[in-house]
Amino acid sequence: MKEINVQMGGGTNSFTPHSLYLFYKTYPNIFIPLLYSSQLLPFLVKKTMEFMDLFVIGFALILIRLWWRRWSVSGRKRKNLPPGPPGWPLVGNLIQIILQRRHYVFIVGELRKIYGPIFTLQMGQRTMVIVTDSKLIHEALVQKGPAFASRPPDSPIRLVFSVGKCAINSAEYGPLWRTLRKNMVTELITPTRVKQCGWIRRWAIDNHMKRIKSECFEKGFVEVMSNSRLTICSILICLCFGAKISEERIKKIESILKDVMLVTSPQLPDFLPILTPLFRRQMKEAKALRKRQIECLAPLIKNRRAFVEKGENPNQEMVSPIGAAYIDSLFGLEPATRGPLGEEEYVTLCSEVISAGTDTSTTTVEWAMLSLVMYQDVQEKLYQEIVNCVGKDGDIKEEDIEKMPYLEAVVKETLRRHPPGHFLLSHAAIKDTELGGYTIPAGVHVEFYTAWITENPDIWSDPGKFRPERFLNGDGVGVDITGTRAVTMVPFGAGRRICPAWNLGILHINLLIAKMVQAFKWVPVPDAPPDLTQTYSFTVVMKNPLKAVILPR
Ligand code: HEM
Repeated sequence: MKEINVQMGGGTNSFTPHSLYLFYKTYPNIFIPLLYSSQLLPFLVKKTMEFMDLFVIGFALILIRLWWRRWSVSGRKRKNLPPGPPGWPLVGNLIQIILQRRHYVFIVGELRKIYGPIFTLQMGQRTMVIVTDSKLIHEALVQKGPAFASRPPDSPIRLVFSVGKCAINSAEYGPLWRTLRKNMVTELITPTRVKQCGWIRRWAIDNHMKRIKSECFEKGFVEVMSNSRLTICSILICLCFGAKISEERIKKIESILKDVMLVTSPQLPDFLPILTPLFRRQMKEAKALRKRQIECLAPLIKNRRAFVEKGENPNQEMVSPIGAAYIDSLFGLEPATRGPLGEEEYVTLCSEVISAGTDTSTTTVEWAMLSLVMYQDVQEKLYQEIVNCVGKDGDIKEEDIEKMPYLEAVVKETLRRHPPGHFLLSHAAIKDTELGGYTIPAGVHVEFYTAWITENPDIWSDPGKFRPERFLNGDGVGVDITGTRAVTMVPFGAGRRICPAWNLGILHINLLIAKMVQAFKWVPVPDAPPDLTQTYSFTVVMKNPLKAVILPR
């Protein structure tokens, strides 16, 4: 306990408050004179004032908080913003969210129950409008599509990686976005191009099958996520650069792109720009990572250019014919507002395709395989469909996939039950626009919480149950996953910014699952049942990645 020094006679004595109290009780007659003749009185006066100061400061803080509560709520009303939790001065709701120590994708579900289908979160300087209702999502993305088709401003770190928003996913709604997106669709997704590149999937999936077989032999089980990541990443790298490269190089690219996603995830200064000077180290690290990303992809770009322009192919890594790789189209692209693209832009645009197509598809494969491991009857039904279609050992061709309605139902049910992203990418209104009776100001972050739609019992019966049959003869029949007619599940978004490569993503998922189920029976690892806990890692994934035993059929 803190001691009090009291001058007594010629010397100073130390007392604890308790000993002073005992002294007063025992010698009340000499305590008062002593009080006057020592430093005790000034000490007590000082302490009382300190206490008063604290009291006044505390009281003032409470008053400020109450005033802010009223002001922030009435401020929102004045601007006609949707309602939302009252926040603190300057930081808004940021601290409340941080204190929850969970990713905000998991908190929004609870806020939805309190604040309804559309609400506002004030995250520091960033205003976020969260839309959770299927009708409002349809109104914003489809009916008022162009108005909500833009993206909010990028943070300084994101601008480094997007070379000033020169990427399809981050470009504002306008001519640059239109040129880049149209080019990607023509060069990667058209049926002719998909058919032309079928050999890439065959090559990558054959490697995949050999790899999982030997992994199970060595370890006794297969890790679904890491293997599928490697396979899908190798397909996308080959689609982008037309090159077959070693597994080691694929892993290096994959790991750098994962780091890029980590470093570009929102950080404190994105919400409170005033803190930017404190985060100089992060910016330095981001620039160093960008340098590594360029160094890693530049040789592929250089080799491809030499192949396209001079027919050179010294190490024989260029395998796609000229014109069949995504990058070939970028060499000649000159978006009106930007001029010819350079190495930085090539790196950004190819990285975008690899990153956007890997995590999403792999997450879906992992959740689908989890369900097949857990529900053996579903797996058996799927296996029978595959055997009926191509035979026990028959080659599964891409066109065969269209003849497998149960496979389609399994993948749709996986996307419904476990949408890889619980939100779409952030949208922004191009001008102040009305939504749900509120005014959404231009430029604020508009976040569409699409995971709730597929959990909503008013839309789906037994939404928590994994039941692929619902897509064959139940509430899933005729569902439009592009959300154009109505929004009942939109794993790829809807409207202008809908994922431009959703059919390619589905093709990769379907092929991988079909091949894996045709060759092996997937069962849980004995004494280690799969753990269903989910966590956020750009997509919502299994916290403990799925491990399964594979038995040859
Ligand atoms: C299962 C697989 C996939 C899922 C679930 C998925 C999901 C999504 C979602 C939700 C969006 C945001 C839509 C919005 O903001 O409204 C998106 C955008 C995008 N996706 Fe995908 N995606 C998948 C596969 C792919 C693949 C394979 C590629 C590339 C080859 C790709 C490239 C893109 C791009 C470039 C955008 C930005 C579009 C824009 O802003 O205009 N995605 N995707």
